Amino acid sequence: MSNPEMKGARILRFHTSDKVFHSINAICWYALVITGAIVYFGHWMGDISDETANLMMVWHLWLGALFTLNFVGYVLFAPERFAVTLKNLLEWDKNTIMWFRNFGGYPRRFFKIPFGPVEVPPQGRYNGGQKMSYLIFLAAVVYLIASGWLLWLGAPLLGKTVFYWLFITHVWGSFIVTAMVTCAHIPLALLSMEHFKGIWRIGSGDISYEAAEHHAPTWVKRDVVKVVEK
Ligand code: HEM
Repeated sequence: MSNPEMKGARILRFHTSDKVFHSINAICWYALVITGAIVYFGHWMGDISDETANLMMVWHLWLGALFTLNFVGYVLFAPERFAVTLKNLLEWDKNTIMWFRNFGGYPRRFFKIPFGPVEVPPQGRYNGGQKMSYLIFLAAVVYLIASGWLLWLGAPLLGKTVFYWLFITHVWGSFIVTAMVTCAHIPLALLSMEHFKGIWRIGSGDISYEAAEHHAPTWVKRDVVKVVEK
């Protein structure tokens, strides 16, 4: 239930470490996809010079190193934030599952498709769809880091078949997750400007009480604490 006393209050949703991790991760992700795609498709279509391919690969490797440092840095230097994110993603209660009965009401709202019940069950910090997709994204980040280093430095140790499958899953896994991020994560993120600005702006990662209550009522009720008297 909305609390009128909280009108105008700000809720700290993203700490600095969450914001730094997410921004560097997102920027590196697209830079890696672009450099990787130029090398892969360029060679495939046969219209890229070896010089350009080598240069793109050097960029790809350095960006991959930064991408790795960013993830390892988040886990090592902000373990409590990483743990909070993981805990919230791994907590699947009845309402999380029920979210998938109508996909958060989005098919009805945007495409007028009467899919599932009208009511969306109250969600925690992340809704069912966010939990599923963010777990996939984090698994992809870990897999791409591990497979990337193995392909780069571990190649002499790997058999031909292992190398081949690591390469195929590295390339196509990254393209599939990029399609998910581009076609679902970004458009859906734009639906809540409060969350969008909260995670991307330089400065505080807070969002309005109204946005927090609307998207994550269970989180507000269960976890959010008042730290400053208005
Ligand atoms: C460049 C485009 C991107 C935009 C505009 C964007 C936008 C956002 C926004 C607004 C949120 C907050 C959602 C919420 O908590 O309610 C978020 C969270 C998240 N995004 Fe992105 N994102 C982008 C790229 C990516 C990429 C490339 C990945 C990884 C593959 C990613 C993974 C995540 C994860 C794991 C979270 C949850 C993090 C947390 O709550 O601390 N995002 N994103």
